[in-house]
Amino acid sequence: MKTSQLWRLGMGDVQILHGARHRPPLKRPMWIIVLVSMVSLFLVCAYIYPPQSSNACYVFSSRGCKVLTDWLPPAPAREFTDDEIVSRIVVREILNTPSIPTKKAKIAFMFLTTSLLPFEKLWDKFFSGHEDRFSVYVHASKEKPVHVSRYFVNRDVRSDKVIWGQISMIDAERRLLANALGDPDNQHFVLLSDSCVPLYKFDYIYNYLIYSNMSYLDCFYDPGPHGNGRYSEHMLPEIELKDFRKGAQWFSMKRQHAVIVMADSLYYTKFRDYCKPGLDGKNCIADEHYLPTFFHIVDPGGIANWSVTHVDWSERKWHPKLYRTQDVTSALLKNITSINLSIHVTSDEKRDVQVQSCLWNGTTRPCYLFARKFHP
Ligand SMILES: *[C@@H]1O[C@H](CO)[C@@H](O)[C@H](O)[C@H]1NC(C)=O
Ligand SMILES: *[C@@H]1O[C@H](CO)[C@@H](O)[C@H](O)[C@H]1NC(C)=O
Ligand SMILES: *[C@@H]1O[C@H](CO)[C@@H](O)[C@H](O)[C@H]1NC(C)=O
Ligand SMILES: *[C@@H]1O[C@H](CO)[C@@H](O)[C@H](O)[C@H]1NC(C)=O
Ligand SMILES: *[C@@H]1O[C@H](CO)[C@@H](O)[C@H](O)[C@H]1NC(C)=O
Repeated sequence: MKTSQLWRLGMGDVQILHGARHRPPLKRPMWIIVLVSMVSLFLVCAYIYPPQSSNACYVFSSRGCKVLTDWLPPAPAREFTDDEIVSRIVVREILNTPSIPTKKAKIAFMFLTTSLLPFEKLWDKFFSGHEDRFSVYVHASKEKPVHVSRYFVNRDVRSDKVIWGQISMIDAERRLLANALGDPDNQHFVLLSDSCVPLYKFDYIYNYLIYSNMSYLDCFYDPGPHGNGRYSEHMLPEIELKDFRKGAQWFSMKRQHAVIVMADSLYYTKFRDYCKPGLDGKNCIADEHYLPTFFHIVDPGGIANWSVTHVDWSERKWHPKLYRTQDVTSALLKNITSINLSIHVTSDEKRDVQVQSCLWNGTTRPCYLFARKFHP
């Protein structure tokens, strides 16, 4: 009887209150006091741990979280630093400036390598016949490669040494972007490695990227040791732990986003100084965290959160699966091109699996246009 009364109260049935009158008079204030104090305690807790924080979600369960978000005022925002105000204004201005349409929109293919480009002949075939719709840039960090394709000759940019995991990797990416931005026809910028291959013909990839309204930048929340475990509090106040993100290095971005990367010095400096292997006993890899964290902070809605370059980490080793001659079959390519879900697994013991549909302008499409790592 009592349970059913409470249940009906919960459903907002006012009538049942009359039924409560028949209870002994002392009992009613007592349970109201208990109920009111429990609700107050709940609200105080919810205020101290704002619902955005994942802690709150564990405490109150995901359903409680959603309900609270709906009717609690947002937690007071942190006061921005001077650098942060500058950064946000610059990003907003760039995003609000419409890109100038050019006669022939081109895609910049930016190759990051140490010295060799073993798949130049394959790329040559891929590019052939589409001469006015792409441009090639090569950053060779050790030795200038001897080019075999006419599309690659004289396309080397001035380069510098790249140390794995350190900011010099980002510097090489910025160098490529800066060179590619020099051509106003370049509207989309793809970063590729020497072990990458295209999965489709040129037209498919061109249309996918040029007519998309997003940048394909990998970005996910990993509370584990290979994600947030690499965060340094030296990055405060601008980069909080809750905003730290992880993602694969191989991006493809629209022109506005490439300009935003050029304009950033605040976040770049933080990662240059506090994200490197071995600092404070952590193994922070700049190229896995800088751009994901930066875009998560400045334009989270403008990125797809997955990369159009496929890689297979399922062996759970330090390096992704390397495809050798015997692995490269039409079945493998069919497998990779049929993937339309992007999957991220956290590095903590929970191994949470985050699954997301690959949405292109709102419709599900294959996720991947390129793949790595292929053995020469
Ligand atoms: C996708 O969205 C972009 C930006 O809104 C738009 O320019 C483009 O035409 C859209 N593409 C298709 C095929 O609808
Ligand atoms: C990417 O993730 C952010 C949250 O980090 C979200 O706001 C955004 O909508 C996501 N992008 C897409 C295309 O789902
Ligand atoms: C293709 O995917 C299926 C199902 O995931 C798997 O069993 C098979 O081994 C894959 N084939 C290749 C060649 O990777
Ligand atoms: C996604 O891929 C699966 C398996 O390849 C397929 O069955 C499904 O129809 C695809 N979904 C869409 C919306 O294309
Ligand atoms: C891209 O287009 C889709 C479908 O029109 C829309 O839902 C989404 O918000 C757009 N994203 C951006 C960043 O414009």
